[in-house]
Amino acid sequence: MQGALQLIERKRDGGALTSEEIAALVAGYVAGDVPDYQMSAFLMAATIRGLDFAETVALTDAMLHSGRRLDLQSMRPLVDKHSTGGVGDKASLVAAPLLVTLGFSVPKLSGRGLGHTGGTLDKLESIPGLRTDLSRQEFAAIVGRYGLAIAAQSDEIVPADRLLYALRDVTGTVESLPLIASSIMSKKLAVPSRLIVLDVKVGDGAFFGTQQQAEEFAAMAIALGKAFGRATCAVLTRMDAPLGRTVGNALEVEEAIRCLRGEGPEDLAEVAAALSAQALCAVHGATWEEAVAAAQTALASGEPLERFRFWIKTQGGDARCVDDPALLVRAARSRELPAPRGGYLSRIAARAVGDAARLTGAGRLRKGDAIDHGAGVELLRGVGDEVAQGEPVLRLWAASAERLQAAQERLEGAIAVEELPPSRQSRVVRRMGGDE
Ligand code: URA
Repeated sequence: MQGALQLIERKRDGGALTSEEIAALVAGYVAGDVPDYQMSAFLMAATIRGLDFAETVALTDAMLHSGRRLDLQSMRPLVDKHSTGGVGDKASLVAAPLLVTLGFSVPKLSGRGLGHTGGTLDKLESIPGLRTDLSRQEFAAIVGRYGLAIAAQSDEIVPADRLLYALRDVTGTVESLPLIASSIMSKKLAVPSRLIVLDVKVGDGAFFGTQQQAEEFAAMAIALGKAFGRATCAVLTRMDAPLGRTVGNALEVEEAIRCLRGEGPEDLAEVAAALSAQALCAVHGATWEEAVAAAQTALASGEPLERFRFWIKTQGGDARCVDDPALLVRAARSRELPAPRGGYLSRIAARAVGDAARLTGAGRLRKGDAIDHGAGVELLRGVGDEVAQGEPVLRLWAASAERLQAAQERLEGAIAVEELPPSRQSRVVRRMGGDE
């Protein structure tokens, strides 16, 4: 095989790599023989030039085989849910215990914040004591006993994704269909689930700005699943505005708990129910209407909240925060941003809010940066709400005035107000795979 430099140059010039070359590059990176700067160059070449399907399969396979697969026993069908990444996207925190209530087990490997999007692991780690660095044995034991565990990639499980994910986050190489697909699917394939349900976000705050790109991605991920013999389906959901009313780790955990209590917000409950309904359709052959009704009823029953409480405890978290959100950390300083004029809120740009949340300290700007779990952005009003001129619309939380200022500047022009209310749109755009 040629050295890393030749492979980078070939990709830069638009050529294709063989499966063996991709496997060697990934193995070399994980072993420390290929340095960060060469891997960054390869990722940038792949982002600009693309990878064909055979290369994407090879990359997924190489990442999957960089660690060991999980071996799980469960009487219940194993369903894994994953989002392509959004702003304020705490749907996993609601959908996972909801899926357990509906009779599934949910073994899930998650990611950290990536680019302007948040990550489930960072959100979970804002719960005091909660551990996501579970060993394979711990993960299997928790899923077997309680039906639900969410853990990080590790040295044992898809280590290549852990390393590449952190590198992509800080090298402008997140927005690539094949890199996102191989990252997500390598994590999902390491777990022996019966079904993978993807929440493919579309819109300004997602990695796919248009429905066409999101559909292309979903088709690629479904085909990748098929290439590895795994049933995969997707729900495309709108990400033009942040999901729910909070962006930032502890803020989002608190909101997810409220949603599990049946207190909304409506859009978060809608997305969590839709993802769970897709699993009911694919595994049990339910009709979409039946499945959505079953998911909504289960969410309103209060059982998912109890499942959540139990799950937090089994991963070492302080479950008292379910009843007492004051136990969750909150940044020391806050600042409110007003409506530019009176009328109806027609836009709260998700991308700008995601970037601003990152600037408050809720996300990373450099590899290895510590997260401020208490930082972020609260939406005091939502799209469609009537507001008076000067009324506070957003509240920023950060540790310092400098961070608040940087976030405020990024939000310049992010809020639009119109005279007439915008028409209400469902978050669910379309379903792909399964029975559709
Ligand atoms: N989620 C992942 O796990 N990986 C990506 O690359 C994007 C979203």
